[in-house]
Amino acid sequence: MEQVAEWSLTCVDAGSEYCPCYLAVSGECFVCSLLRGREFCTCSWSGTCSYLHYLWSRGNITIRREVEVKVMREELGSNLVRLLLTLPATWIRELSNPGAFLFLRPADMPPAAAVPVSVFEIREEGAEVVLYVDGPKTRLLALASATSCLIAKGPCYNGVQGLAALKRTNGGKAVLVAGGVGQSATVLVARQLLRGGNRVQACLAPGRAGFNYAAESLQALGVEVKEVKSLRREGLPLVSKWLQEKPSVVFSAGPDTLHREVANLVAKTGAGIELAVSQNAVLCCGEGLCGSCITVTAEGRRVPRCKAQFRVERR
Ligand SMILES: Cc1cc2nc3c(=O)[nH]c(=O)nc-3n(C[C@H](O)[C@H](O)[C@H](O)COP(=O)(O)OP(=O)(O)OC[C@H]3O[C@@H](n4cnc5c(N)ncnc54)[C@H](O)[C@@H]3O)c2cc1C
Ligand code: FES
Repeated sequence: MEQVAEWSLTCVDAGSEYCPCYLAVSGECFVCSLLRGREFCTCSWSGTCSYLHYLWSRGNITIRREVEVKVMREELGSNLVRLLLTLPATWIRELSNPGAFLFLRPADMPPAAAVPVSVFEIREEGAEVVLYVDGPKTRLLALASATSCLIAKGPCYNGVQGLAALKRTNGGKAVLVAGGVGQSATVLVARQLLRGGNRVQACLAPGRAGFNYAAESLQALGVEVKEVKSLRREGLPLVSKWLQEKPSVVFSAGPDTLHREVANLVAKTGAGIELAVSQNAVLCCGEGLCGSCITVTAEGRRVPRCKAQFRVERR
């Protein structure tokens, strides 16, 4: 059974303007034992102190803003659209890091209709996202994007688990594996790895998206891209070969089944290769409050996946 390792917990919002949050006010901060009413600090220091931020904030909590955004829309396939969202300048830098995502909803729909969508690429005027129409919320969003403005809530940062591994990998080799709309998380991850002077290889499969829409952007950045029809049949055997060269980090972007298969290949090498994965939790509020994304640590503590960065341990 896989469980969150308590020692590894950090909060993606720690040190940002979104710390402290309502979890601190309610005595439920999952990284700070002092804010949970304990006598001693037991946090795994992430470079910032949530307790001090809470004292300094004097009860002021900043939550993510909603803004109305103009949209340019391009049909990529029968159920796939690319949206270019015009965003506030202050958001653009914050959304250029791996794992960045937004909640999007039609302007005339309630917050419950909001869809978490990864930032595919950052442009001067805003962010590009790719939407796969999968059910009611994505269908309504795709329809609304054709005729009106959308409401974006953000910026949100926790679309990737294993951000620290991506950020500390320098001058090595990195492997990306992505299927379907998982491809949307690869470009910002590749940019981070290339900034660190790494050589990056990517294996892409179209999945339900129908084609490898990230291939061109990745190649333009200098990533060595291999396109396959199926990850299971062709992609994973190829990745297995790439792993023999012992890359420093592997990024898996797609469903949890893909993450598990990639994790097994990484474990088989026994080479201490780090693994980062795209986030697949059901996310609704993005503030650690609604409870839709809760997972449980090995010690039985509930932590929200919209905010928590962690490692999983097999027991
Ligand atoms: C961090 C993150 C980034 C994402 N990025 C993209 C992207 O770039 N492009 C894209 O097309 N899709 C993306 N998704 C998935 C997208 O959010 C869901 O497909 C969408 O919410 C489905 O809603 P629906 O009502 O259309 O379909 P439903 O029929 O309700 O669900 C279809 C599938 O989506 C899952 N889902 C439903 N609601 C949510 C939710 N609130 N949060 C997460 N999953 C949900 C369901 O569990 C089911 O597996 C992302 C999800 C997350 C968590
Ligand atoms: S999305 Fe609401 S608690 Fe995580």
